[in-house]
Amino acid sequence: MSHNEVKPSGFLPVLLLVSYCGVLNVNADEVYVSALGDPGMRRDSLRLAIESWNQCNEVGEEVPHMGSPRAADCFDINEASLTTDEEKKLAYTLAHMVTEEDNKLGVGEPFPEMEPKAVNDVDLYAAEKELYLGRKCEVEDTPRPWQFWMIMLKSGNMDTYAAKCPKNGHKVGPFGPDMSFPCFGKGCMNQPQILHDYTTLRGPNFTTLNGRFYGSWDLNADLSQGLVGNISYHSVTWQKEIGEGSWVFHHFLRTSTKYPWLMLYFRSDATDGFSGGYHYPTRGMSKIIPESPNFKVRFTLNVIQGGGPNSQFYLIDIGSCWKNNGEPCDGNVTSDVTRYSEMIINPTTTAWCHPDNLNVCPPYHTFPDGTRVYRNDTAHFPYAVYHLHCSPGNAEHLEEPYSLCDPYSNPQPQEITQILPHPVWGEYGYPTKQGEGWIGDPRTWELDVGRLSESLYFYQDPGTPAAGRQWMSVDLGTEIFKDPDQIAEWSVSDFDILLPNKT
Ligand SMILES: *[C@@H]1O[C@H](CO)[C@@H](O)[C@H](O)[C@H]1NC(C)=O
Ligand SMILES: *[C@@H]1O[C@H](CO)[C@@H](O)[C@H](O)[C@H]1NC(C)=O
Ligand SMILES: *[C@@H]1O[C@H](CO)[C@@H](O)[C@H](O)[C@H]1NC(C)=O
Ligand SMILES: *[C@@H]1O[C@H](CO)[C@@H](O)[C@H](O)[C@H]1NC(C)=O
Repeated sequence: MSHNEVKPSGFLPVLLLVSYCGVLNVNADEVYVSALGDPGMRRDSLRLAIESWNQCNEVGEEVPHMGSPRAADCFDINEASLTTDEEKKLAYTLAHMVTEEDNKLGVGEPFPEMEPKAVNDVDLYAAEKELYLGRKCEVEDTPRPWQFWMIMLKSGNMDTYAAKCPKNGHKVGPFGPDMSFPCFGKGCMNQPQILHDYTTLRGPNFTTLNGRFYGSWDLNADLSQGLVGNISYHSVTWQKEIGEGSWVFHHFLRTSTKYPWLMLYFRSDATDGFSGGYHYPTRGMSKIIPESPNFKVRFTLNVIQGGGPNSQFYLIDIGSCWKNNGEPCDGNVTSDVTRYSEMIINPTTTAWCHPDNLNVCPPYHTFPDGTRVYRNDTAHFPYAVYHLHCSPGNAEHLEEPYSLCDPYSNPQPQEITQILPHPVWGEYGYPTKQGEGWIGDPRTWELDVGRLSESLYFYQDPGTPAAGRQWMSVDLGTEIFKDPDQIAEWSVSDFDILLPNKT
């Protein structure tokens, strides 16, 4: 597609140097290339999309008049040939690629190149809509085209009586009551409103780019006066000066009594195939999928409000998928296993793993020098570094004792390792103390996510060849876990995934 070319103009040298050649000098002695279409979030012509998931990563039901919960804000910047000082403010115009009609498309409304069976299926429709928006936003690049950054919303509400979510990938009938899942009654799994202020040029010289997605899961809420009352709320505002620095993505998330378990993430997803936790083909920003142990993730994070004691704020969250026999996932939800790892930086989060609770510890820990220590070695195992490890529900050879992951919250079984700040991670550039990078301590991180994730334990059947650990989703954000009336607020800028330059 050719509509993505940025015309050569006065502000391009910044982009040419920093973004387009894609070679960055991180340390004096090592040269890295970016795995992303928009290295360091410096590209003026933004590519951004938003998606919303229910508890089992589907749509379930659309919000009336909102369309399918996928939308995008993608534009190129054109520079008019005006030169006098008075006319300079008119110099830039934005050419948006996704119309309001595109963003409002909902089930029953066919669009070009759509899989016919998806027209009347809300879940398949959203997956196809993501591909459609991707076709509109796609940017040609090497080694392959890319589409957009992805904002992800998710509500943890589940109506167990509605039997909407499979268990470890298998259909199950109604059950309950089950206090593990919040639900105020029929319809509790609804999608949120997603309102959109398209990116426009603002500021005295019309050189400030600014736009926003926002809304509430409380569908009767009146959002015309902004956030009023104790309603659930989500908002991501993006802003950038043309030709200068990074985009700044400002995030806001509020839980309510009816929606106490909410998630808001900013993701760099694979540009094709499945991305972590999603069993449909995806579109994204990672034109190269980073693989352990050879990649780093760099970004600036400013946490403004934490989201309360149960806000699982992920400094970085990585998602992948492989089968228990080590083979790559193929969309078969009973044998695919989503694998996640996250560092939680909210200092109120404690290690559930300890010597008399070994079921939530991984079977062993591997130190940076390769030393492997079993969890029953109480003198040497670093219990304090693991919030929890849980195992996939379809694993057949688990070491006792174990704890299985929530079988409902993904379309397929999952395995999760959640780690906490601790000196053992210092080697990889991660926080070594609780509180680092938290409220009042904004930082630019350069995390050796590749080497850390290579060292983590993940389950595989005995004797099977180790899976290549490819991370189709790299994201950050928070999951406020069953805690009403909490507010989290943070901003992300400079995000990049760096790979060693092999040339
Ligand atoms: C707007 O443009 C004028 C003239 O070029 C410049 O002096 C001023 O600093 C600019 N203001 C901003 C906010 O960029
Ligand atoms: C999915 O995987 C399961 C478990 O390996 C297998 O029994 C089943 O045949 C697979 N389904 C398909 C459609 O391949
Ligand atoms: C500790 O666990 C390992 C691996 O499961 C096992 O081989 C070993 O016998 C255990 N040691 C003790 C003292 O229980
Ligand atoms: C609204 O939320 C605040 C905390 O954000 C709480 O103190 C207050 O009691 C709540 N009000 C109602 C009516 O629930």
